[in-house]
Amino acid sequence: MKRFIALTTAVFALATCLTAAPVAAQEFVIKFSHVVAPATPKGKAADRFKELAEKYTDGRVKVEVYPNSQLYKDKEELEALQLGAVQMLAPSLAKFGPLGVKEYEAFDLPFIFPDKAALRKVLDGDIGKQLFAKLEDKGIKGLAYWDNGFKIMSANTPLHVPDDFLGLKMRIQSSKVLEAQMKALGAVPQVMAFSEVYQALQTGVVDGTENPPSNMFTQKMHEVQKHATISNHGYLGYAVIVNKKFWDELPDDIRTELDKAMVEATAYANDIAQAENDKALEAMKASGKTEFHELTPEERTAWMEALKPVHEEVADRVGKDLIQAIYQATGVTN
Ligand code: LMR
Repeated sequence: MKRFIALTTAVFALATCLTAAPVAAQEFVIKFSHVVAPATPKGKAADRFKELAEKYTDGRVKVEVYPNSQLYKDKEELEALQLGAVQMLAPSLAKFGPLGVKEYEAFDLPFIFPDKAALRKVLDGDIGKQLFAKLEDKGIKGLAYWDNGFKIMSANTPLHVPDDFLGLKMRIQSSKVLEAQMKALGAVPQVMAFSEVYQALQTGVVDGTENPPSNMFTQKMHEVQKHATISNHGYLGYAVIVNKKFWDELPDDIRTELDKAMVEATAYANDIAQAENDKALEAMKASGKTEFHELTPEERTAWMEALKPVHEEVADRVGKDLIQAIYQATGVTN
């Protein structure tokens, strides 16, 4: 009897072994939506993150990158992230106001960062962390800050001094600081999704805009703008953000690998951004379609004087203390 029981147990165990399907490791998909071309600092960094994330998780995470507003435009992509329709985005810091995190608009203040080193001190220090914390109760987690670059102004007429902006319709991102900036120059600001800018410039719905060279070039804006001024008057960069619930619920080992991929993709992004913008500027100059103007020292002073009041004007909105903290970190006051 004992032998019979042992035998049936063995047969049963063997049968179980033969029929049980191997337990598949759970797989995850990250939809990463963005609004710029693949050949930009953000586009390249998103692709690099995909490559590293898939490699480090042995394919358990699949990252689908959707560039050029293929899935969502600026405002919709933030809503989609909160709803969980996409898991990852990298909107510019100028686009967090409508979400209720107005503090990020401090990064739009004209001439607040003398250079990238000053900017990095702010974003990579306590201020960058504190601003990420403000996203949490919106269901969003901040992972990294990626550079693009300093902006140039373009239009179909030369933009040498503030008076040249009088009455021009200028496309801006959805930032009240950028609105105040354009008004201070005498222009008429118009908020518009990035995906609509080329056509708006081409058809004359707006007269001009501002962007780093990499965005201007990859959207072919130089083909529909006769003049541009290398003013470097303001910064444009990104916060890489994820749906917090999705991120928090990932298995720890997966999240660790994704964190590692993000650290490396961020180093890559911030390493290539300047060169990508320099290359784009050279390519636009070589195309001969836009005439580029460098500000003379006198013109630069005139721009700075005209834009100075913006800092004071928006202080209540973006936070006086935050602006002071940025001045302190950079060593440059208005
Ligand atoms: C813009 O809307 O001009 C930029 O924020 C686009 C981008 O993501 O670089």
